[in-house]
Amino acid sequence: MNNKSNKLSITKKSSWSLILAAKYFKLDNFDDTSQVTIEKVLNKKKYKYKYNIEKQEVIDNNFDIDEYTNNLFKLYLPIIFNSKKTFLIGHLAQTLDGFIATQSSESKYISSQENLIHIHMLRAISDIIIVGSNTVKSDNPMLTTRLVKGENPMRIILDKNNKLGKKYHVFTHKDDNGYKIIHDKLKPKDQNIFQLPLINNQFDEKDIISLLTKLNKRIVFIEGGGKTISKFYGKNLLDKLHLCISPIILGKGISSFIIPKQKSLKEVYEHKISYMKMGRDILCDIDLF
Ligand SMILES: NC(=O)c1ccc[n+]([C@@H]2O[C@H](COP(=O)([O-])OP(=O)(O)OC[C@H]3O[C@@H](n4cnc5c(N)ncnc54)[C@H](OP(=O)(O)O)[C@@H]3O)[C@@H](O)[C@H]2O)c1
Repeated sequence: MNNKSNKLSITKKSSWSLILAAKYFKLDNFDDTSQVTIEKVLNKKKYKYKYNIEKQEVIDNNFDIDEYTNNLFKLYLPIIFNSKKTFLIGHLAQTLDGFIATQSSESKYISSQENLIHIHMLRAISDIIIVGSNTVKSDNPMLTTRLVKGENPMRIILDKNNKLGKKYHVFTHKDDNGYKIIHDKLKPKDQNIFQLPLINNQFDEKDIISLLTKLNKRIVFIEGGGKTISKFYGKNLLDKLHLCISPIILGKGISSFIIPKQKSLKEVYEHKISYMKMGRDILCDIDLF
């Protein structure tokens, strides 16, 4: 990182605009190059940075990179510039004792406002959001990017028996970008539905990914809950997991991970991880591929 003193200063909003500029650069340029130059005029000044994709580093820049901007670059550029056809990132906010909600499904909000903004930023750089049916039933989320600049991506809910009614925010939003995946033997009358076969009464996550690839969705954000993320994790299909640890203890609740228990510590795989302070929480950035 170049640190000459005659550099432009940058606001938090402008730092985020430079991340969105990277997203649209990648959308227009499918080639896998080793480094990219992103330019964007903000407040009548041209901001410019060069990013080395392999090293995941900004190697030249004409503006001051403070801690906030550096964190945005570290969090989002490796996701935007990944070379995979379909890249799956999961996010969960959990308590110190490993719960994503109370036993009565209250989860708003386990994590800080800073983490909530991070979730909206993840939505904005993603091409699609996936959540399980329990999350929609409990939280009735909109799954939009309303806290930050950026477009709302398509949202897909896994609802195999088509039990969720149309009343939920994700289906009533004016952008009409809320969809469901349901069982392929059902005959739905509603719009915005995809259908997949059930195997042992579950969708095969690989079929879900094939559907997303057909829809040309590259960055897939799996936003919960624990059951849904655990299924992708358990089949080694997640590329990255952001686990936000909040400084609270619940005693009992809904677990982050529902996976087969490990018999011995010798069998446990150690993940590659980096940490970042996010408000009063700690974000673990875990690379899984
Ligand atoms: N703290 C956080 O970060 C966070 C994030 C999101 C949600 N939450 C909380 O987490 C709780 C919900 O989480 P959860 O773990 O209980 O459930 P969930 O993951 O939201 O939903 C699980 C349901 O999704 C459907 N599903 C998922 N994968 C499927 C597959 N491969 N095939 C078919 N169906 C599939 C199934 O629905 P059906 O069996 O009904 O068909 C399954 O029971 C709520 O309390 C919510 O508030 C917390």
